[in-house]
Amino acid sequence: MPEENSASSTLVFFVNGRKIEDDNVDPECTLLTYLRNKLRLCGTKLGCGEGGCGACTVMLSRYNHLLDKVTHYSVNACLAPVASVHGLAVTTVEGIGSTRTGLHAVQERIAKAHGSQCGFCTPGIVMSMYTLLRNAPVPSMEQIDEYFTGNLCRCTGYRPILDGFRTFTSDAFMNGGCGKTDCCKLKGANSGTNGCANGASSDSSVGEFDEYEESSISHSLYDKYGFKSYDPTQEIIFPPELKVNTELQTSYLQFHGPRVRFYRPSSLSQLLQLKSLHPAAKIIVGNTEVGVEVKFKNQVYPVLINPSNVTELNAVLEKDSGIVFGASVTLTTIEETFRVHATKQKEYKTRIYSAILEMLRWFAGKQIRNAAAIGGNIMTGSPISDLNPLLMAAGATLTLCSKERGERQVVMDQSFFTGYRRNIVLPDEILLSVHIPYTNEGEYFFGYKQAKRRDDDIAIVNAGMKVIFEHESDIVKQLDLAFGGMAPTTVMAPITMKKLIGKKWDSSLLEEATMLLLEDLPLSPSAPGGMIEYRRALTVSFFFKFYLSVQGQLSKRLPNLVQPLNDMEENAIRLYEHTTPKNTQVFQKVPAGQSPIDPIGRPMTHTSALKQATGEAVYVDDMPRFENELYAGLVLSTHAHAKITIDESSALTLDGVERFICARDMPSIERNKMGCIVHDEDVFAYEKVTCVGQIIGIILAKDQATAQRAAKLVKVHYEDIKPCIVTIQDAIGEKSYYNSYTINKGDVETVLKRSANVLEGEMHMGGQEHFYLETNAHLAVPKGEDGELELFSSTQNPTEAQKLIANALGVPENRVVVRVKRMGGGFGGKETRTCTISVPLCIAASLVNRPVRIMLDRDEDMVITGTRHPFLCRWKVGFSADGTVSAINMDLYANGGNSLDLSGSVVHRAMFSMDNAYKCENVRVTGYVCKTNLPSNTAFRGFGGPQGMLFAEDVVQRVAAFLNVDSYLVRERNLYATGDKTHFNQLLENCTIRSCWDEVKQQANYCSRKSSIDSFNRQNKYRKKGISIIPVKFGIAFTALFLNQAGALVHVYSDGSVLLSHGGTEMGQGLHTKMIQVASKTLQISADKIHIAETSSDKVPNTSPTAASASSDLNGMAVMYACDKIRRRLEPYIAKNSKGSWEDWIKAAYFDRVSLSATGFYRTPGISNFDFEKLEGTPFNYFSYGAAVTEVEIDCLTGDHSVLRTDIVMDVGESLNPAIDIGQIEGAFTQGLGLVTLEELRFSPEGVLLTRGPGAYKIPGFQDIPKEFNVSLLRGAPNPRAVFSSKAIGEPPLFLGASVFFSIKEAIRSARDDAGLSSVFRLDSPATAERIRMACPDFITEKIKSAEPGTFKPWSVTV
Ligand SMILES: Cc1cc2nc3c(=O)[nH]c(=O)nc-3n(C[C@H](O)[C@H](O)[C@H](O)COP(=O)(O)OP(=O)(O)OC[C@H]3O[C@@H](n4cnc5c(N)ncnc54)[C@H](O)[C@@H]3O)c2cc1C
Ligand code: FES
Ligand code: FES
Repeated sequence: MPEENSASSTLVFFVNGRKIEDDNVDPECTLLTYLRNKLRLCGTKLGCGEGGCGACTVMLSRYNHLLDKVTHYSVNACLAPVASVHGLAVTTVEGIGSTRTGLHAVQERIAKAHGSQCGFCTPGIVMSMYTLLRNAPVPSMEQIDEYFTGNLCRCTGYRPILDGFRTFTSDAFMNGGCGKTDCCKLKGANSGTNGCANGASSDSSVGEFDEYEESSISHSLYDKYGFKSYDPTQEIIFPPELKVNTELQTSYLQFHGPRVRFYRPSSLSQLLQLKSLHPAAKIIVGNTEVGVEVKFKNQVYPVLINPSNVTELNAVLEKDSGIVFGASVTLTTIEETFRVHATKQKEYKTRIYSAILEMLRWFAGKQIRNAAAIGGNIMTGSPISDLNPLLMAAGATLTLCSKERGERQVVMDQSFFTGYRRNIVLPDEILLSVHIPYTNEGEYFFGYKQAKRRDDDIAIVNAGMKVIFEHESDIVKQLDLAFGGMAPTTVMAPITMKKLIGKKWDSSLLEEATMLLLEDLPLSPSAPGGMIEYRRALTVSFFFKFYLSVQGQLSKRLPNLVQPLNDMEENAIRLYEHTTPKNTQVFQKVPAGQSPIDPIGRPMTHTSALKQATGEAVYVDDMPRFENELYAGLVLSTHAHAKITIDESSALTLDGVERFICARDMPSIERNKMGCIVHDEDVFAYEKVTCVGQIIGIILAKDQATAQRAAKLVKVHYEDIKPCIVTIQDAIGEKSYYNSYTINKGDVETVLKRSANVLEGEMHMGGQEHFYLETNAHLAVPKGEDGELELFSSTQNPTEAQKLIANALGVPENRVVVRVKRMGGGFGGKETRTCTISVPLCIAASLVNRPVRIMLDRDEDMVITGTRHPFLCRWKVGFSADGTVSAINMDLYANGGNSLDLSGSVVHRAMFSMDNAYKCENVRVTGYVCKTNLPSNTAFRGFGGPQGMLFAEDVVQRVAAFLNVDSYLVRERNLYATGDKTHFNQLLENCTIRSCWDEVKQQANYCSRKSSIDSFNRQNKYRKKGISIIPVKFGIAFTALFLNQAGALVHVYSDGSVLLSHGGTEMGQGLHTKMIQVASKTLQISADKIHIAETSSDKVPNTSPTAASASSDLNGMAVMYACDKIRRRLEPYIAKNSKGSWEDWIKAAYFDRVSLSATGFYRTPGISNFDFEKLEGTPFNYFSYGAAVTEVEIDCLTGDHSVLRTDIVMDVGESLNPAIDIGQIEGAFTQGLGLVTLEELRFSPEGVLLTRGPGAYKIPGFQDIPKEFNVSLLRGAPNPRAVFSSKAIGEPPLFLGASVFFSIKEAIRSARDDAGLSSVFRLDSPATAERIRMACPDFITEKIKSAEPGTFKPWSVTV
């Protein structure tokens, strides 16, 4: 072995073709940090830092000398240590194209297909697609699904991304191309290239619309022929030096950092020597486990060894008995190997491989599978490892090796794991290889996994199951059952395995197994992870599926002995199948005579989309560093309600720490107070904390790593205060409310008494994390004079930030400028809660008089910033025999958290929305804002509306179930019409709910599909389908009257270019694009002459937050007024020179000393504050309407669900931009779908958020959207109350996601009917897999007894 000092310590790799050599690399530095901070390649984004969002995706390319082949694979740069890319080529989004040098086809297509809204996910998605194309120039849609398992997008709803990339695929031809006989796609199909638009050359921006269709209806949101062709031969070449210089891949490396040493041995003996010298060293391959431990669990591993160049650990060897994988072989290589074997071997031999292949489909995302190794999974010993149960049941053999004792072999059985993340491998040993056996005839093997989200999620429970039968019989000879998620380690079911030997494979075995498994796999009611009954049920459900699958296979082999499965049983074991997504979008074309330069009504591309796709778009943390800049590390409370004392002394000793700032630094209690409506929050927690995640202090240090390390060294002593109120139930018990409000219309009591039928119910709706892809990011820059300070901020509310900062600094508001270029998503989460971070940041910056930056880690963001309000609803309804609702009484309780924030207004909107789209003359609704010790809950798209509406729909659904009629009949019977008054006495004008309803019902073919579903349900017990049609009515306006105002500022420069400013912020929703369209139409110039640089409080003052869906309405009118002034000033010059150009008129006006700058101001007319006592006032300007039909299928045994189809018809008035509006509908629907199915927040009984980060909190991924998704904009419904007859769109469609919830409920209802149970039942939201499974009682659940509440401490509580 070479001496350590003979090893190279210079890191060498290539980035986008440029050679990087670094003699001083810190092994703790990730590739992402290196790219962003050192190389200033900021296109690659940080969304989570834990491999869960894909924003950091880059492509690595490696030359294989033996095969003379370059392999390309995507990885998460946030987890890959930069030291691990020695000898590799890294390609980032900047390397493949730019707006300056030319776009790559992937960048162009995602942008022009409207697949980029806020753009923060876009570079990662571009790089996943790019990597796929490098490996498969004409991929299939199935491959796209596979490559995108590790990417998330919170804005688009994925449809437009898939649609744009479909043009690269072989599946693009399935739709028959564009319909033209000479379609380039078809030509592409024939020529073997990847089709779409090969050879077409149009490169327009505004004029890119599909005008060839004959009718007034269009379904083409972008020009499918205008894309430039993709030519794989033009891709950047692999750096020749990396091919020639074999040393780079084989040399022994060592890098020494301040805290960590990194070794890359080049032989097994070197590896064993190192492990012998450093028994505590961590071996890292993908670093997907270790990277997360270091970042989020504060682990420091002083010695890291990367064996990626040790031949033995990377070998794949075929033996007679099976395949041996070196421990460093990646999961992707295992997949590829098994795929080959599945085709070349006899079916029975590869049953274990097929089960592992199926499991790997659901194992993490593609980027993780490309990096992570089999050895890492085994050695981590996670109790929910997906491979360990399979390997254990398979009887895999491990070869371990040490320098002193050489090799030894151990079978992976129940003795391998010795405790939580512990095993029998000795400290000086390494795992060398894993032998996975073939199966024999008469041996059957299956694997199972249930997670919250189907793909890229860790298991709730998983299992590997193998049975061997006596020769040519159905008598069990051996049974191996291994489970994950049921104990601190992967476990086997020893009693079951033993007692079933010798038994016949029939129903009595199944019955016995059910009882034995429950005995074998007990779970404490307090077990970490919760979901106790569900997890226990899953073990038996899996066995039941195994039983059926084996029966099915046995029946083919031994038809005389074993019955084949019937259709219902076949259906029960059906695997999830990929289907190519289908979709349509329908909207009205602009009138025939509309000027070609008038962009209103046209699907103009988001103005930043191209920059977002190339990584050029600048977000706060992409801004260059100031020379004297500091970074802020936050000290956050870990107790929910406690007195505190702080000792920062240890933190201040750390090298690079400048200062600690806390409440002691504030000059007065008043200056330490803030809050958006009442000042009831502390800038820095003062003497006590009232929630977990409250900011106690800030460490200022030279960089992020130092600041965060030092923040963890600040000691906070807590003395808990009682009560600690966490849940709504706690708050009700303690009568802990900020406020309560009542709307009382008609005579509820009397009518309820007289009603033919009365039902009472309760429902809880969970909160929702915003999960904007860009976390809170702020840069505070003190100007050094007159108390001036500039804040670059990812906020939806620059004015609020300006006010609160000025108050905290003790300066007038005119000294603070808040600037927002764009945000990587907001969804309401950046309306007020950003001030929780930006205000203390500005205090810190001002105290040291230096720029200070922060970008929150994802877990910090989730723990600090609050969520959508969880609500509890108690209701009582009176109704007639035909389902007409006559009276309703509803109590709404919202969990407001530790400060009032916007909770009062949120509860108001919930109260205004509790009718959804239904008329009822007698309504009493009371709303309570509960004061609890959770982080303050806040605005989230819909702002209380979805909660109120969900409860309305729950009432209607239960009424229908009670009357035993299809719920659509009850809905239809109660729908509002024009001329009706709401329960808050607002008259409904131009009410289009019935048109949306009828159109969607027809478009979705609701009635005939409903009867097919009924027939499916009659024939199936273990899978059920459900369909529902759900309307939405959403009031548009801020319910706080004063916020319904907006301003704009237009400058026209002497060259004719226009700089537009308005009060709204751009967070992906396309507001700037729409405002440019409005300005373009009003000024009568083409949109490309108009630019919006940013939103800034010194351009347009006193702005309202960009919220309440009202920003296009408000700012659009202000922009129109401002532009109109300019246009009027130009009239004399136009009259004088009518054939002249815009530039001519501007020049003439300029030389004539005419002001070419104008402001516009708008306030919404005809609305007023609502008086709850008198039921007077007009809170809303108008209402937006829509309706959706969704069909789902559920697996009653596991609780899994799939959304089969959704149809939406939405009234957006006359759309300003159909692409943006449809994008908002699809994105909002998908967010709504997440809200009511996947997204579940879990808190400990002490108020600690347990679901932090994308690993624990699941937003919808690519695979969760409807397999068929059709969206139509209602035609012929101009809105007289907003700019150019348009309607607001941001929030209203979100609630249509509830159609998924109620379809699931219908499917469950069918399962309950089969079981003879009441179909009037409570289902809380979200309808998680756990809730679905447990709502479908059967022979399994009836055997599981729950522990008595109060007799144990649960892992989590419903807040
Ligand atoms: C976003 C994300 C999603 C994930 N999803 C899943 C999932 O769905 N299912 C699942 O099971 N896991 C999942 N994981 C966990 C993880 O990816 C896997 O466990 C993976 O196989 C670890 O491999 P690695 O090479 O990255 O391990 P590393 O992090 O490099 O190492 C992990 C551990 O193994 C030890 N080790 C590695 N090789 C050897 C060796 N040869 N000898 C001795 N010790 C060794 C290391 O010292 C370390 O303790 C996920 C992780 C992330 C970040
Ligand atoms: S930032 Fe790397 S996956 Fe999220
Ligand atoms: S565009 Fe995908 S997260 Fe915003």
